[in-house]
Amino acid sequence: MKISKTPLLVILSTFIALSVLTIAGASAVASGYTVKDIAIQPGYNESVMNFCWYSTVNSGCYVQVAKASEMTGSEFQVDAKSFLGSISAASTGYYSNKVIVTGLSPKTEYAYRVGNGASYSGVYSFKTGDGNNYNAIFVSDAQIGASGNISNDKAGWEKTLSAAVGRFNSTAFILSAGDQVDYFNESEYDAFLASPLLRSVPIAPTVGNHENLSSSALNSYHYFEPNESSEYGLTNAGGDYWFRYGNVLYMVLNTNNTDVSKHDAFIGQAVGENTDAAFRVLMFHQSIYCSAAYSALSATLTLRKNLYPIIDKYHIDLALSGHDHCYTRTYPMFGNVAQKSQTFDSEGRIVDPTGTIYVTAGSSSGSKYYDISKTQGDFAAESLQLYTPTFSNIEVNGNSLSVTTYRADTMKAVDSFVIVKSTSSKFYDVPSNAWYAPAVEFLASKNITTGTSSHIFSPNALLTRGQFLVLLMKAYSITPDSDNTGNFSDGGNTYYTGYLAAAKAMGIVQGVGGNRFLPDSSISRQDMFMMLYNALKLLNKLPTLTSSAIEKSYSDSFLIASYARDAIKILTSDGVISGSNGKIDPASLSSRAQMAQVLYNLLSK
Ligand SMILES: [Fe+2]
Repeated sequence: MKISKTPLLVILSTFIALSVLTIAGASAVASGYTVKDIAIQPGYNESVMNFCWYSTVNSGCYVQVAKASEMTGSEFQVDAKSFLGSISAASTGYYSNKVIVTGLSPKTEYAYRVGNGASYSGVYSFKTGDGNNYNAIFVSDAQIGASGNISNDKAGWEKTLSAAVGRFNSTAFILSAGDQVDYFNESEYDAFLASPLLRSVPIAPTVGNHENLSSSALNSYHYFEPNESSEYGLTNAGGDYWFRYGNVLYMVLNTNNTDVSKHDAFIGQAVGENTDAAFRVLMFHQSIYCSAAYSALSATLTLRKNLYPIIDKYHIDLALSGHDHCYTRTYPMFGNVAQKSQTFDSEGRIVDPTGTIYVTAGSSSGSKYYDISKTQGDFAAESLQLYTPTFSNIEVNGNSLSVTTYRADTMKAVDSFVIVKSTSSKFYDVPSNAWYAPAVEFLASKNITTGTSSHIFSPNALLTRGQFLVLLMKAYSITPDSDNTGNFSDGGNTYYTGYLAAAKAMGIVQGVGGNRFLPDSSISRQDMFMMLYNALKLLNKLPTLTSSAIEKSYSDSFLIASYARDAIKILTSDGVISGSNGKIDPASLSSRAQMAQVLYNLLSK
């Protein structure tokens, strides 16, 4: 799969400095440059935002961004950052501008404007969220123009948006499951993107059948999707894409392309790159479990037959769709069978559901409704046709994900459910079935680790030398030294300082030369083993050497540094450490999960 992020990032990083210079020195103002239909969209993770807009002139493509706190009124500082993107021809008279903005901090308000480096839009703002605790709004089928009156549909859509974002005013982004517009008509796109709220809240749209009605690429001119595939789920309107927000992986399919083997490959790749995501959410337009006009159509049944085995295979937690203009929520589904027997906790939350919950949204604008069919499938836990626009609020809080659906007119909640994933006792990002879960749980129970932040262990993050030293000292109840005078010159004044001073005084660590320890650098496996060996030797706790040559059985044992050879010999002999695929990988870096396993092997004996 070709993913757009890498080449674009390269282009961006190459041109950021140039773009700033260009703006500072710009003198030629392009005549007639105007901007419309600015869409801000989730980037490939929560520190990134994608921007897309139409301009009337092909003359440069920039987003200028600054923290709101650094603005003077609506004036950017002269050194405010600009990001360069790419520009291409769109509908007659317009150009499509696409820019990726990176490096955004969480929970921070930013000001931005888009332009060609000389002329700009007005200044707008957005606020970034917190990946571990946020909400997203889920809608579908605004289908602007479906009623035959674009302005009525636009008003209905804006009313729903205002109600949703008004109630949940720190909404991280909007998920729209397709049919944003009715036909390939620019005035419908103008109407859908008109709300000022969409200058501040990112939107992740889906290609519905109505975005796909013609050979027109209008949809792809108007949006800039993160990680959009150039290989999977392709039609003229766009391809499959994914993004990550906190511990949730969001994957969006273009199911107008009915080659499900391609969607299978796409999901496999996205899941493979996000194995640590606690939740997997899949969005696609054509619902496969619905209650109204599309419930029994052969196209629905065919897509269901082809798609549910893939959704089962990847253990998708939540599948979001539309197309049916009628709200349906299923029981957890697996093998095309409703799994009605589930475990609920004392708060009524479903614990580790044994299937995928499918939610099909009603109309978000009121442009069109379909009546509930008289014959209902056994899959539906709730079917609602309220003949009024609805939306759902998705709350992600660590290991729980809730979905509550509201009438947009009265804001009455009409359906709600919560999924909770059981995790290790303390950490949201340590699934209870992970290979390292027993090790992390053991270390947490002994207060050897408290994680990298509240409820977060970061199992896949690289372990630093300072982190390992502190864990090692805590594991053997060695107290920090309050006297810092003999410490390494880079011992600093932080969580590891006292431990480093004590370890140096005791001879557990020697540093890297020049009286430095490099506490914030990643630690190699052999340096980790060496520190461990020194500590155990000092404490008279070295394991017994049972075989003097076991380290040589690894095919890469010649890579072991001479200073680490004794340590690796004795630790492999006792089974405290082991390699994988016949290799010991002495110079590779250690993840926090690997470290937990090594300490667990030692301490749990
Ligand atoms: Fe549709």
